[in-house]
This record gives sequence, structure tokens and C-alpha cells, in this order.
Amino acid sequence: MEVIIQPNKETAAHLVARIVAHDLRASPHLVLGLATGKTMECVYRHLVCMRADKGLDFSLCETFNLDEYVGLFPNDPNSYRHYMNHHLFRHVNIDMRNTHLPNGMAADLDAECRAYEALIKRCGGIDLQLLGIGKAGHIGFNEPGSALQSRTRVKALTPTTLKQNAPMFGGEEHMPRRAVTMGVGTIIEARRCILLATGRSKAEVLAQAVEGPITSMVTASALQLHPRCTVVVDEEAATMLKEKEYYRWIFENEPEWEFYR
Ligand code: GLP
Repeated sequence: MEVIIQPNKETAAHLVARIVAHDLRASPHLVLGLATGKTMECVYRHLVCMRADKGLDFSLCETFNLDEYVGLFPNDPNSYRHYMNHHLFRHVNIDMRNTHLPNGMAADLDAECRAYEALIKRCGGIDLQLLGIGKAGHIGFNEPGSALQSRTRVKALTPTTLKQNAPMFGGEEHMPRRAVTMGVGTIIEARRCILLATGRSKAEVLAQAVEGPITSMVTASALQLHPRCTVVVDEEAATMLKEKEYYRWIFENEPEWEFYR
């Protein structure tokens, strides 16, 4: 795991967007794994600007989102399909047929999960997976206790997650109780993972994920097993990391990061 500490959430998101842009230019057929949540909105804003100002080309790439709520239609303002259309897809030259999210309205959700896994495989696997981290330590909706080898499936949302996301729904009572999510095993098969965490509220859980033991109780900690995982954080989210100076030294001295310093 490499940890990059940036001064604030804007610079952290910009760095993530630059990595995506770099990979997309190098491989126009990139298979991109996408995440939702407030943290990612900044990244998508930067990518939309790069499309407008620098002609960043999305026309050949394929995208797979991590998760979707069960029971929401795609046009529901709280669905992740709606989020993606609103924050990214509608503003760039992506072919909508190449954008994939699990269908949380499928009559047979187990079949939907199997089909999603099969589609990822058919596209050659995910090249670059973007990730946020929930206050429950989750990636996707892999709530505490999720098997580290889990695949795409339906998960019940924990009280921490319900509380975190309830404001978007105008209260917990209006929130779906379950979601379809890529499994931890699905996520860590991506060739490269980038986790972005910003803000003081993520500091504790981020330190557990990065410097704590690998445990299904904090599913983001499974990223420690990944051969190519970069964690990008702002100063606030980095507050509880013990090895901050070491991470800074690596970022300053590692030739791979020269272009991003
Ligand atoms: C949801 C998503 C996660 C995301 C998390 C963080 O729970 N399923 O993939 O990482 O939100 O959200 P935020 O960025 O709003 O803190």
C-alpha cells in the first residue's frame, strides 16, 4: 500500500483524477471501476473539466460501479445510476452502453449478481478501481463481517451506514435496507486500486484500514493484500496515521510519483 497525503480534499481529488486521466490516455479501452459518495464528487468534477478543457476521451472505456441500492429505480434521485449520470456520464463522451451498475430492481437478485461478475470477466477484468471508505470501514457496501473472498452479492446495510447515508434520503426510514455490491474478492482482483479518503470523520477508520490488522470487520483493510493499491488522503483524514512522515518521504522520493508532485 502506498499512502499519499495531500494538503486538502481538492488537491487529493485532483491527484486521483490525474491518475485516471493518465491511465485513460495510455489505454483508451480502460476498464474503470467507479465508486459513489460525496468524496468522489470532487474527482468526477475534475474529470468533467478535463473532458471540457483537454478533450479527455472516454469514448472507448468501459465502467463498472461497485454497488447499487436494492429497490431503487435507475431514475430515482438516490440511486447510484442517477448519481453517476448526474456527476459524470452525462458530461463526458462516454458510450452509455459501456457504463454498468448492478440492477437493484432485478427480480432475481442472485442471478443479477452472477451476471455482473460474468460481465466484468468478459470485459477482461477491472484495470483501475476507484474506492471510497464508509464510516463502517467498508469498500463498496462490504459491511463489517463480509468475507474477504466475497463476490458480488446482496448485503444488508449496517446501522453505521444507514446513519451515514440517511440524510440523502430525508431520514433512515426512507432508506433501502439492502444493496447489491461487488465483493471484497471482486474488488481486490482489479489490477490497480485507488482509495480516496478526505475529512476528519474518516481519520479513525482510515488508520484502521491502512495500519491496523487485516480484518473482515474493516473490509478496506483487505487492500493491504493488494499488490498495487494507492491510498490518497487529505491532511484531515491522515490525522490518525502513525507513519505520516514515512509516507511523505516515499512520495517525495519515489520516481514513479515525480509527475504528480
Ligand atoms: C457509500 C458507498 C461507498 C463509499 C461510501 C463513502 O457507502 N457504497 O462505496 O465509499 O459511501 O461515502 P462518502 O464519500 O459520502 O463518505
